[in-house]
Amino acid sequence: MVQMTLPRNSKIRVGKTWPKPEGATNLRKFSIYRWDPDTGENPRVDTYFVDMDDCGPMVLDALIKIKTDIDPTLTFRRSCREGICGSCAMNIDGGNHLACIYGIDEVKGDVRVYPLPHMPVVKDLIPDLTHWYAQHASIKPWLETESNPPQKEWLQSIEDRHKLDGLYECVMCACCSTACPSYWWNPDRYLGPATLLHAYRWIIDSRDEATGERLDYLEDPFKLYRCHTIMNCTKTCPKGLNPALAIAEIKRMLVDRQV
Ligand code: SF4
Ligand code: SF4
Ligand code: FES
Repeated sequence: MVQMTLPRNSKIRVGKTWPKPEGATNLRKFSIYRWDPDTGENPRVDTYFVDMDDCGPMVLDALIKIKTDIDPTLTFRRSCREGICGSCAMNIDGGNHLACIYGIDEVKGDVRVYPLPHMPVVKDLIPDLTHWYAQHASIKPWLETESNPPQKEWLQSIEDRHKLDGLYECVMCACCSTACPSYWWNPDRYLGPATLLHAYRWIIDSRDEATGERLDYLEDPFKLYRCHTIMNCTKTCPKGLNPALAIAEIKRMLVDRQV
């Protein structure tokens, strides 16, 4: 059998179990990934107990409670707390979710919280999305035009505007890309479901005048065709969007323009 030595800081150790809050009778147990690269120590999983009689219903409520009352060093991103900013994406109970709209009651047993999978970690629950944002920028997520600009604004019919439904709602949380096995194996070359959903959003925008160039950029065995329609992206999206369908539509457009 092949023997492998894991990188030193890839081994997760059992961390600290924090004391239960005094007098609490309605406790939930949280197992949370912790890693501070500045310490030089391996990642660990700390255990916390939260009094559910004194905590909101969402996983983000519990994380804020832990940070406020138990352990101020716990680090995570959040902003809007209503599923709009996309910043609180993390892996909860084995799936990628927005912590602010994922109910603690949806988890049976201990609540296990990890950063989004297969991404470099900055600290604790914060993934490094630098490369992911660069991929998004590579598809030029803005209106490209050559015509003279209109006096006021680029108008669009109501019907054409409706074509963007199911696309514009993306909150850039990265839950889909980090749930995609193809993206796990080829994040350097495969653009992944979120970026491709945005690419399609601009391809079908009736006001955009760079459709050909956009399709040229995507016609590549890795950028687009690493998608094997596994559908994890669509299953995972916390906003109910369908990146797999958007990718299939781009592939169809590439075929259509050959005939
Ligand atoms: S459908 Fe494509 S993008 Fe979505 S998870 Fe599968 S391989 Fe990834
Ligand atoms: S498509 Fe869904 S899962 Fe992917 S980045 Fe957008 S909102 Fe998040
Ligand atoms: S805090 Fe904004 S989406 Fe969760």
